[in-house]
Amino acid sequence: MDGNGRWAVERGLPRLEGHREGVERIRVVLETLRSLGVEHVTIYAFSTENWGRPQDEVEGLMSLFFVAVEEQTRELHERNVRIVHLGKTANLDPELRGAVEDAQRLTAANTGITLNVAFDYGGRDEILQAVRRIIRDGLDPDALDEETFRHYLFTAHSPDPDLIIRTGGEQRISNFLLWQSAYSEYYHTPTLWPDLLPAELEQALEAYRARQRRYGKVAGPGA
Ligand code: FPP
Repeated sequence: MDGNGRWAVERGLPRLEGHREGVERIRVVLETLRSLGVEHVTIYAFSTENWGRPQDEVEGLMSLFFVAVEEQTRELHERNVRIVHLGKTANLDPELRGAVEDAQRLTAANTGITLNVAFDYGGRDEILQAVRRIIRDGLDPDALDEETFRHYLFTAHSPDPDLIIRTGGEQRISNFLLWQSAYSEYYHTPTLWPDLLPAELEQALEAYRARQRRYGKVAGPGA
């Protein structure tokens, strides 16, 4: 959701207004992606590093997330959306943690689009947590393979992302789905997240379709 802050600053508004607008944008993005046939969507909302932002911004983001979960879950449920949280819950306020758990429980059996919400998420943290659980489970190191490992990640229920769209002109990975993005395609755009329109999402998917995914192999006949 890169660019929320700049969107607000450009308009002489507090950064939190940009985040508020960014939350509004999620609904349109989700609806557009659903109509384009996408089955799994992940929103990177709050990273393990975002705790380092000014306290009032962090508190504002927590409260925006809480309100969004409280207000949007029913409608998402009616639209058959499965909501899954990716990330740590230990550092969240108990009320927020409870709301997130309720939303997951309510929508767990839904069969439409899966909406993964990465909140207090970090790719390195996810891998560390997986390793800890693998050790605790006493797995045989020689039997551990990639397929087994992926089941210890927060995203065990979703396939690896085919396409990662990064808004706001950033060209970094920023600790996002480090394991899962090994062969993801990237689409970078200078568009700020609150300005992201359905037409650009269609363009991103069009660009993705035109790419040739080789997964480290050689293209062409006989490959
Ligand atoms: C990135 O923009 C956005 C964030 C770090 C926070 C986004 C999270 C929310 C709006 C909370 C609610 C979330 C959900 C899923 C309902 P930025 O601040 O880095 O923008 P900038 O690059 O312009 O500074």
